[in-house]
Amino acid sequence: MKQDRILILDLGSTENTVIARAIRELGVYSEIYPHDITLEELKAIPNVRGLIINGGPNHIVDGQEIFVRGEIYAASLPILCVAHAGAGGRQLAAWPAEKAALEALLRDFIFAECGAEPNWNMQNFIADEIEAVREQVGDRRVLLALSGGVDSSVVAALLLKAIGRQLTCVHVNHGLLRKGEAEQVVDVFQKQLGADLVYVDASERFLQKLAGVADPEQKRKIIGAEFIRVFEEEARKLEGIDFLAQGTIYPDIVESGTKTAKMVKSHHNVGGLPEDLKFSLVEPLKQLFKDEVRECGKQLGLPDEMVYRQPFPGPGLGVRCLGAITRDRLEAVRESDAILREEFRNAGLDQKVWQYFTVIPDFRSVGVKDNARCFEYPVILRAVNTVDAMTATIEQIDWPVLLRITDRILKEVAGVNRVCYDLSPKPTATIEWE
Ligand code: XMP
Repeated sequence: MKQDRILILDLGSTENTVIARAIRELGVYSEIYPHDITLEELKAIPNVRGLIINGGPNHIVDGQEIFVRGEIYAASLPILCVAHAGAGGRQLAAWPAEKAALEALLRDFIFAECGAEPNWNMQNFIADEIEAVREQVGDRRVLLALSGGVDSSVVAALLLKAIGRQLTCVHVNHGLLRKGEAEQVVDVFQKQLGADLVYVDASERFLQKLAGVADPEQKRKIIGAEFIRVFEEEARKLEGIDFLAQGTIYPDIVESGTKTAKMVKSHHNVGGLPEDLKFSLVEPLKQLFKDEVRECGKQLGLPDEMVYRQPFPGPGLGVRCLGAITRDRLEAVRESDAILREEFRNAGLDQKVWQYFTVIPDFRSVGVKDNARCFEYPVILRAVNTVDAMTATIEQIDWPVLLRITDRILKEVAGVNRVCYDLSPKPTATIEWE
């Protein structure tokens, strides 16, 4: 990393990521470090132009007062100290609430006081990261579990640029993907980008393991465990692999806690590796926020459909086919989801709404089809907006769009005679039904 950087020392404030992002938007690279970084550690980081200390002097974490080490002031770096009346640094009462005022304050600090160069941009990042990966990997081989989600897809595209066919991607189709997803992964990575891709259709295996299992958490456990098993089996067939690439991104690292702050949540990408597969990690996106990951993917030439994809849970359609999964209902949820997505695209809602999907319950209701009584499944439509998935509001879909989706599902999806629209916010409901 040749770019100038501003470090934020972490006293556990949730504002830190907002500030880091705001600085990066101004074109200067910014990263969050533990509050108790030593002078020696600080000096070892290249191109540091300034420090931000965000938090009061009596900051309490788990009943302990914490603050930065006095010795770091000897680094003679400009320091912006916020809500802190202690030694050194410029004093401020609090961060401004408005974005424009925050930007003006940060701009003044990073350019006027620190003299930082605005040289953080995606092209420089990609060039630097390609160089770093080549240096780390040399002529050895890297394995990647390519799910088709945004993060693993961008990792694959970046590594292909850096090391080409020294990268082997494994795409495990657990049979719970959306319509056309596995085909798209094969098309983009194998056919268009020429990746060494191992495609494993494990659908039958997953369906058998899940047969008769109705409890959502049990379903999740089975899908997660089976996924690792299939991936490991494929990994063992390959020889001479030294590295495992992962789509870890910056929020995963920050949320797992720098050594300062208390753990917010432990993320599966961090420290959750299969124990007996001895790989070193390649994590080329670990410095990027989600929107930067998308920008990176776009610049690497991935299709918008892949880069701006809505969030999709690891257990996939498995938690949208409620109760014990059956083939007919799985097919119905996949087909109805495809219709919903197509109509959202036609209505220009696909880039506006955060997450939208269909759900199929495991009970039937009475209806009439072709002048005869039928006893079939309902499909539930769900479309929500959220910032952090902790709370969510529903998207108020226009009636004509709703009616068109309903009409198509009732005509085109076998075994469905009713469509319902879920109006529940989170809380009280969760986004998913299971
Ligand atoms: P809930 O249903 O808890 O969902 O409101 C919040 C967000 O998390 C996603 N989600 C999952 N993602 N594995 C995942 O990778 C899971 O088991 C899982 N469950 C829920 C959900 O789609 C929503 O975006």
